[in-house]
Amino acid sequence: MTVTYDLQNKIGVITINNPPVNALSQPVREGLKGTIEKAQHDDSELLIIICTGRTFMAGADISEFGKMPMEPSLPDVVNLIEASAKPVIAAIHGTALGGGFEVALACHYRIAVPSAKVGLPEVKLGLLPGAGGTQRAPRLAGVKNALDLITSGQPMKAARAQSIGLLDALVEGDLLTGAIEFANTLLADKPEVRRVGEITIAPAQIEPGLFDAYRARLAKRARGQIAPQKIVACVEAAVNQPINKGLELERKLFVECLLSSESQGLRHLFFAERKAAKINGLSKETRAKAIQSVGIIGGGTMGGGIAMNFANAGIPVTLLEIDEQALQRGKDIIASNYGITVNKGKLSGAEAEKRLGMIRGTTSYDDLAEVDLVIEAVFEDLAIKQTVFKQLDAVCKPGAILASNTSYQDIDAIAAVTRRPQDVIGLHFFSPANVMKLLEVVRGDKTSDEVLATAMDIAKQINKVPVLSRVCYGFIGNRMLRPYAREAQLCLIEGATPEQIDRVMENWGMAMGPLAVGDLAGIDIGYKARQGLSDEEKGDPKSYCIADRLVAMGRLGQKTGAGYYQYDPASRARSSDETIIRVIEEEATKQGVVRREISDDEILDRLTLALINEGFNILEEGIAQRSSDIDVVYIFGYGFPAYRGGPMAFAENRGLKKVYARICQFGEQFGQQNWTPSTLLKELATDNKSLAQWEKEQA
Ligand code: 3HC
Ligand code: NAI
Repeated sequence: MTVTYDLQNKIGVITINNPPVNALSQPVREGLKGTIEKAQHDDSELLIIICTGRTFMAGADISEFGKMPMEPSLPDVVNLIEASAKPVIAAIHGTALGGGFEVALACHYRIAVPSAKVGLPEVKLGLLPGAGGTQRAPRLAGVKNALDLITSGQPMKAARAQSIGLLDALVEGDLLTGAIEFANTLLADKPEVRRVGEITIAPAQIEPGLFDAYRARLAKRARGQIAPQKIVACVEAAVNQPINKGLELERKLFVECLLSSESQGLRHLFFAERKAAKINGLSKETRAKAIQSVGIIGGGTMGGGIAMNFANAGIPVTLLEIDEQALQRGKDIIASNYGITVNKGKLSGAEAEKRLGMIRGTTSYDDLAEVDLVIEAVFEDLAIKQTVFKQLDAVCKPGAILASNTSYQDIDAIAAVTRRPQDVIGLHFFSPANVMKLLEVVRGDKTSDEVLATAMDIAKQINKVPVLSRVCYGFIGNRMLRPYAREAQLCLIEGATPEQIDRVMENWGMAMGPLAVGDLAGIDIGYKARQGLSDEEKGDPKSYCIADRLVAMGRLGQKTGAGYYQYDPASRARSSDETIIRVIEEEATKQGVVRREISDDEILDRLTLALINEGFNILEEGIAQRSSDIDVVYIFGYGFPAYRGGPMAFAENRGLKKVYARICQFGEQFGQQNWTPSTLLKELATDNKSLAQWEKEQA
């Protein structure tokens, strides 16, 4: 039974049991409705709503969205609770989120254990709270607090929630016992039925211009998204309109959000992120190993950031460098990074010291003999990496996991120099490694299931989003980036400017345009990578001659103050640079290209479709387990707009037939070399099949 009822003296205890997170699925709504209605006519004088398992209700059932609505609706259940003639107490543990917290807001009293969190995270799904949250939260906590809670979607700790009026009391110890005690205290005093909906907010209390200020701020922070603006409209209605009118508006705007492509994309991402951590074919009995200490080889850009991840999670790190000087440099950068966080007020000085203290430096491999996991982050050179792995093989204890953070090298070729290829894996972090959420877990031919399971497990512990990839040049993310970057370069030489390309991609939702990214990462990185490739592997010189020229000019990007743009030394603000246009024109002449006007639409299609076509190749070759994994890679690693659901979901929504037709058109216009449609895409477009159907058939 998902909802049970137990009458204890005068207290009716309603218990919800819908694992894993007590989502408000149809049986829960129906059970709640029936129980509340019945309890109006029994001997109870007061009701408690409480949940079993790890949490209070964590929201509406997201998997029901987009399907036929099933009665009773959540708003009806919530309104029924508020209308109850008998007082209702919500007893909260775990996370009361979204519709779950809206149930609590409709109760007449709310108590929680101190470890609980409450929140209205709907905005993260492209939605707004659709069961009274936008109306009741401001009535209890004030307009500003409610706007912050709902537009950020961040969960709030119980103590803070109590301090702003969202909770009435915190109870230590067993929650049900505490709730019954709380109820008995109320009963001793003839408890009021305190309906939040009956509270009025005096418009005079609201700072003039407050709503417009939020609208302006959110238009910047949540560029291109509709839900945050609609949330402001609903909270404004909570001030200016009676509750029934406010609820009507909330419902209307909620449905508009629900039907939006923004919400579809974000809901897809919610499930995609959770699916990505699952490895097909892994036996349920496979257990992750415990990782209690980590070794890191190379304390440069990546090694330092990777070390911080583990220190932040309380896992001690031994950082190995070639010599004392390199070690000191690495440690100084880590200390300075923690210092920046402390200065921003996001970490206390004492905590930063503690974390720094978890990172021990060494120049001797002997100090890695006992670690459970080693991550190599030395120069991107196969021979150097193989030398490192031979040394690791010689000193590390049996069963230790040996990982490489390589961006492009063949994990199997690295594993082959050890006597334990089953323990070798790729763990590809993204820069800055202490910030970016993505972790590509690269499975070598011989990597064992236990090692794979451990990689997924440790990723969660250090707060990363892991995605499994098989071995290929660049794995999932960097392999797809190549054709995307190629098209950016070709658009540049054929007639566009860096500003136009970056503006088109940023307006479309990319966190940064491709040329601005080039300047941030350093134009020399791609240049150096190209030096190891044959002319054939390098591809069309038109796709890299401008970058090579900039490197020759010493314009490596932000770090040298100029690249595709000029950078202000103090603010790092970018500005256009006439020199670059001259360079592009000269290179175009050398390559025999007559520059032309390129439309914004062409830029957008060439860049996104090049990315998508490679995504289909990756899927077909089995490099990625599923299309949604590719979406997760691009959203968490490359600044792809989450509200577009990722490149593969975007292609699916646009329609595979249309995507295929446009790629064929580019093939006719620019040649097959760059525009051979993926066989899988062609097959699906020809058979009129969606990716979802194809993946179902493959399962
Ligand atoms: N609906 C459906 N399934 C849900 C769900 C929900 N609201 N919340 C979690 N799940 C599922 C997950 O998909 C996952 O399934 P799986 O095991 O098959 O992969 C399982 O529950 C466990 O979830 P997590 O792996 O995320 O577990 P954690 O312990 O890491 O996190 C959590 C728990 C903090 C509750 C997290 O799951 C979460 O944030 N959930 C979503 C909360 C949310 O967005 N609520 C608002 C929903 S929209 C709404 O309420 C609209 C209303 O206003 C009308
Ligand atoms: P880096 O040049 O900043 O750091 C490399 C460090 O390794 C240097 O401090 C060097 O002293 C040290 N080192 C070199 N050989 C060593 C050895 N034999 N033993 C111990 N230490 C040694 O390089 P970065 O950028 O940190 O890259 C490291 C690895 O991470 C490369 O494989 C790279 O492809 C990969 N990577 C880099 C990303 C980036 O954006 N920089 C992103 C993801 C992966």
